[in-house]
Amino acid sequence: MKPQVIRTKNFTADAADFILEQAHKAIGERNEFRIALSGGNTPRPVYARLAAVAHDLPWELIHITFGDERCVPPDDKDSNFRMARETLLAPAAVPGKSVLRMRGEIDPQIAAQEYHDHLDLMATQRREPIYRHDLILLGLGDDGHTASLFPETAALNEQIRRVVANFVPKLNAWRLTFTFPLINHARHILFLVAASKNPALIERVCEGDRQFPAARVDPSAGDVTWMIAE
Ligand code: 6PG
Repeated sequence: MKPQVIRTKNFTADAADFILEQAHKAIGERNEFRIALSGGNTPRPVYARLAAVAHDLPWELIHITFGDERCVPPDDKDSNFRMARETLLAPAAVPGKSVLRMRGEIDPQIAAQEYHDHLDLMATQRREPIYRHDLILLGLGDDGHTASLFPETAALNEQIRRVVANFVPKLNAWRLTFTFPLINHARHILFLVAASKNPALIERVCEGDRQFPAARVDPSAGDVTWMIAE
């Protein structure tokens, strides 16, 4: 299905409102909201805005996961968890039991396996074959990567496992990441894209140029929205 593209001068507010709308919809329909947070820099102001306006959200009904994580401790400056804690989790006083952190501080293969197994447990508890996120937030890297699915890396070819450790040669680093089987099982995907991103890249990805991993995000029974800051 062709993605919805929203270009906005009110990126932070519009993105936070979009997430809030999805949360209320999911809670209204299924009494829970399952959201995966993205990392990097673009989401920072969106999370801070969400913390400021979402005081009436029933955080105990919200399950927060992470689409990817750097293989660093949770208090490391590069940790996606740390970024989310500083901007959203702590300011909004999100209860710890609502957050499933990827343990970047341990062996990547073990961390990926335990996250994979935890998502499988939550799916089984809901009688689902694969855990289905209501909303997965994603970013767009300058090379067309999303989550930690970088061009020419092994994780791109994973067809079964939902979470893997992925070595990224250009970074000379391991990452933990959702794979396409999990991402493409979501009800809704929201790409959050800063104004600084290359417009030609955005256009080629939105047109489905599969040389870019982000273009392979195409939920079988879900929608994709691109929210692009102007
Ligand atoms: C990460 C992200 C990654 C990010 C893009 C865009 O861990 O870095 O998951 O996929 O979303 O690289 O990053 P910026 O928002 O910083 O441009």
